[in-house]
Amino acid sequence: MNHLQSWPEPVVPVQSLSENHIRTIPDRYIKPISDRPALKPGSEIDEHLDIPVIDLLNLFGKDRALHDETLRRISSACKDWGFFQAVNHGVSHELMKRTRDAWREFFNLPLESKQQYANSPSTYEGYGSRVGVEKGAILDWSDYFFLNYLPVAERNQSKWPAQPTSCRELVAEYGAQVTKLCERLLKAMSMNLELKEDYLQNAFGGDDVGAGFRAGFYPKCPQPELTLGLSPHSDPGCITLLLPDHDVTGLQVRNNGKWITVKPVPNAFIVNVGDQIQVLSNAIYKSVEHRVIVNSEKDRISLAFFYNPKSDLPVQPAEELVGEDQPALYKPMTFNEYRLYIRMNGPRGKTQIESLKSDGKY
Ligand code: OGA
Ligand code: NI
Repeated sequence: MNHLQSWPEPVVPVQSLSENHIRTIPDRYIKPISDRPALKPGSEIDEHLDIPVIDLLNLFGKDRALHDETLRRISSACKDWGFFQAVNHGVSHELMKRTRDAWREFFNLPLESKQQYANSPSTYEGYGSRVGVEKGAILDWSDYFFLNYLPVAERNQSKWPAQPTSCRELVAEYGAQVTKLCERLLKAMSMNLELKEDYLQNAFGGDDVGAGFRAGFYPKCPQPELTLGLSPHSDPGCITLLLPDHDVTGLQVRNNGKWITVKPVPNAFIVNVGDQIQVLSNAIYKSVEHRVIVNSEKDRISLAFFYNPKSDLPVQPAEELVGEDQPALYKPMTFNEYRLYIRMNGPRGKTQIESLKSDGKY
């Protein structure tokens, strides 16, 4: 596919704009009025609500009552929010901190050192500043580094940052630990959907699932009221585990038409349900739109781990969740086909999963 070999315009790292101390942002980053963030509490923003915080200590522990209670909390969070923060998740806090610090060090390197990893739209691996390939698109105020983690055959550590020197090793270990957490969460969700414990894992490819990792960098912005760090979208995969920066907010989640700013709990992961879980659960669980706002005071870093289906496996609503009263809402589709949309169009709310709705034949 030739049109995916290169970006339609020269890529400008947002960090380079930020570091030039410009007072106004280029037109390419100015969102239409209706898409701009309201930065003060008001009709569009609810400052008092927040996503649930769930302690996972007793998930799969010995105490039956506490285990059941944890499952119930996960179930409500998946239904009401599509998002929660997980504490006592089993991933080493020290590893989380070291991995985030390593990525901060990477983004602090001179631009030339990062640009040797410049990515292309054919694989997205490497250092980049846009997702969609549409010429003339309005862009988001962020840079990122994306890499493939699973399957192992697609893991190419030589494309990961060589600087800081600890980075490759940290990402490998971090990925191993968060993969285990994703497996536990899929079990919990399977049980909550009254499916067999390993149902979701198997439906997404068993040992052959995919996973990607995105370190996001949101530079300071002189006009944060005109743009977004990341436009509204739902995540295309199964589950996302996000490690946000510890002392600056930015992530907003849509709930009942309002944007809720997530206040990160120290050492927690922000967990969210992706589009593939919405498909498999036949919309009992829904992926939820989220976006990132930026600010003029502080840059922000976040690490997102995307747990995805095996790329060539058709995903469709679980037979057990389909019946006369609940016809299958989505046609089968592989993740390879599915992710082309976001790669062509960039983040576009929930338009993709809506367009997948079957016409009643399924
Ligand atoms: C994402 C995402 C949020 C953030 O990468 O899909 O939603 O806070 N990131 O960086
Ligand atoms: Ni996301």
